[in-house]
Amino acid sequence: MAYDLVVIGTGPGGYVCAIRAAQLGLKVAVVEKDKTFGGTCLNVGCIPSKALLHASELFEEAGHSFARMGIKLGEPKLDLPAMMAFKDQGVDGNVKGVAFLFKKNKIDAFQGHGRIVAPGRVEVKANGGTQTVDARSIVIATGSGVARLNGVAIDEQRIVSSTGALVLDQVPQRLLVVGAGVIGLELGSVWRRLGSEVIVVEFLDRVLPGMDLEVGKQCQRIFQKQGLTFKLSSKVTGIDTSGPKLRARVEPAAGGAAETIEVDVVLVAIGRVPYTDGLGLEAVGVSRDNRGRVVVDPHFATSVAGIYAIGDVIAGPMLAHKAEDEGIALAEILAGKAGHVNYDAIPNVVYTFPEIASVGKTEEELKEAGIAYNVGKFPFMANGRAKVNMTTDGFVKILADARTDRVLGVHIIGPDAGNMIAEAAFAIEMGAAAEDIARTSHAHPTLTEAVKEAALAVDKRAIHM
Ligand code: FAD
Ligand code: NAI
Repeated sequence: MAYDLVVIGTGPGGYVCAIRAAQLGLKVAVVEKDKTFGGTCLNVGCIPSKALLHASELFEEAGHSFARMGIKLGEPKLDLPAMMAFKDQGVDGNVKGVAFLFKKNKIDAFQGHGRIVAPGRVEVKANGGTQTVDARSIVIATGSGVARLNGVAIDEQRIVSSTGALVLDQVPQRLLVVGAGVIGLELGSVWRRLGSEVIVVEFLDRVLPGMDLEVGKQCQRIFQKQGLTFKLSSKVTGIDTSGPKLRARVEPAAGGAAETIEVDVVLVAIGRVPYTDGLGLEAVGVSRDNRGRVVVDPHFATSVAGIYAIGDVIAGPMLAHKAEDEGIALAEILAGKAGHVNYDAIPNVVYTFPEIASVGKTEEELKEAGIAYNVGKFPFMANGRAKVNMTTDGFVKILADARTDRVLGVHIIGPDAGNMIAEAAFAIEMGAAAEDIARTSHAHPTLTEAVKEAALAVDKRAIHM
């Protein structure tokens, strides 16, 4: 049977694209090589990592701040297998949810490895058998895989990627994290809270490259206070796995004397790379850039007519909601509507404690572009709700165009920053001015009042500072 659309990959890009296309009346099939739907995000990414972040955060809170609030429980004890089971249950619920949505939207699912054999034709191989799926349009939504570190073999036991770090069966005494990016800080935080001594080696001279520099500096200070050790401007050049402990060779990034760090587990978190293995792209002539990403035009069309791509496999931030937004936009374009993604309004959240969230431009980007801006900043130390909750680390920073007051960027470190950034993303999407946020009523007492105060501070009229 011929379909309107076949989507290869059922991560947040692929499954959302398939559902939206089905909603719009297209006949849709999906192809997935893994046993469950949901891709990296649901199976080994966003969902399991957030389950462990949530559980480990409560574990730490129970040990530290409960007594200060008059709750006496005694020393909390870790039951790691139960915590892992809690995480697995969360994953299971989510991946089953996708299967349900496919059925509900009458989307046919083919299990197996998909290969594009020609425009309009995908071959699906599973358990020795091959099926052919014909469709007017093909969507590549095959996502990304772990970037490898030269000379370091990931065995997912002692030298792990994020996937192995989500299933460790005991708390490592010492954990070496390579890369102070999102995964390094999130999963480094999880294992530190559960009892590991965590050392983070980062090639650059700062953590979270790409985020606003002031935010990077402040969050590094906070994580250091929590017990993480950072070795910036450093690189791991090899790991000796012969003994009971791993011996990692760490050198200054610019070269120089190496030191050896003994640890139990190494987490390699130096980024992700587009995944197109066995997809047949060369044979059909789909172009990729020098980083292996499928090249698309503003309508997600590849170099071959009828073949499209979305999500981690194309350029842009590797984020689940970015993949989803592209999936929806592409489905709408294929159904004859006007799908669009505003890349200036995609929020970025690091789910540590405190959370770090941003949307729009950083100060560094505005300076480089020569755009004059005003800064409004408000610390959580001066927010009533944060004070009573004893969560006063961090601030809200709003960057607004000096001439028009239009909000260009918002950066938050603080409790619940991931939820609070939604207001900022909406403001940017609507082309709002800082004055618009300042004049919007924010409930008291909430952390969101810090956003309003930062907007007032753009015009130097914050009340509580
Ligand atoms: P993927 O989710 O990678 O899905 C691709 C799918 O395609 C997979 O199911 C794969 O099996 C399938 N596939 C590939 N090739 C084939 C083939 N040839 N045939 C059939 N099937 C194929 N992002 C956030 O926004 N928030 C977070 O909190 C967050 N946390 C993360 C935590 C971790 C540890 C990791 C690793 C990532 C996290 N991300 C997070 C990133 C997020 O997971 C990705 O941006 C998102 O999954 C990308 O979606 P996608 O649909 O492009 O690809
Ligand atoms: P990342 O790109 O966030 O960070 C990688 C870090 O490793 C960078 O700081 C980089 O400078 C450093 N690095 C690179 N090579 C190195 C080397 N040889 N030695 C030492 N340091 C080195 O990548 P990460 O953390 O692996 O995450 C991958 C992707 O997954 C990210 O793009 C992110 O968008 C996504 N993700 C998103 C999450 C979220 O939204 N909360 C959570 C986890 C992942």
